Amino acid sequence: MKRIKAIYPGSFDPPTNGHLDLIERGSKIFDELVVAVLGNPEKDPLFSVADRRKMLEAMTADFDNVTVDTFGGLTVDYAMRVGASAVLRGIRAISDYEYELQMALMNRNLQPGLETVFMMPAEKYSYLSSRLVREIAQLGGSIDCLVPPLVAQKLREKIDVAHKFADAEAREHEASGQETPDGKVAERRTKPRKRRS
Ligand code: PNS
Repeated sequence: MKRIKAIYPGSFDPPTNGHLDLIERGSKIFDELVVAVLGNPEKDPLFSVADRRKMLEAMTADFDNVTVDTFGGLTVDYAMRVGASAVLRGIRAISDYEYELQMALMNRNLQPGLETVFMMPAEKYSYLSSRLVREIAQLGGSIDCLVPPLVAQKLREKIDVAHKFADAEAREHEASGQETPDGKVAERRTKPRKRRS
């Protein structure tokens, strides 16, 4: 019997509960599923490809037929390299459809033998995206029900480091009398200085 191997490509920056939901669904219909993290040098990701891979490996450790890999270049070329015959993508809402359709048709044009399979995550994840998770985490909101505990922990660590770095940078700029890019020091400098008594 023919075994179907699929890839689930994406940025996963960071991986969310919605991604995990889709991986679980995909693992039930494909014999093998490779979660493929794109190392896209054009984007400025929050997490390195290695970090994203590690998080996904931990998240998928219980699925026997799921592996995690990284790739660069075209998705269709990667699919051919690993012997996959399907690409799994999630569709959360109608708004995803146009972009996903365009990508699926372009991939089909590039590699006619490769099928794209769309699956829907659970409704509770239909508004969930990595971009919103990053934004909420960066602004101090709770992300605990949006990502697995390990990812929440990594996000908190990453954002703590970023805040410490930004504070140190602001202090350095203040000491040197320069403006920070966000104008924080400039604001303080425009206030009248207290007279020395
Ligand atoms: O999680 P994302 O960012 O929505 O994933 C998008 C991804 C990685 C599937 C897409 O950008 C992609 O396939 N990139 C690889 C380059 C490629 O094949 N581009 C042509 C797509 S038709």
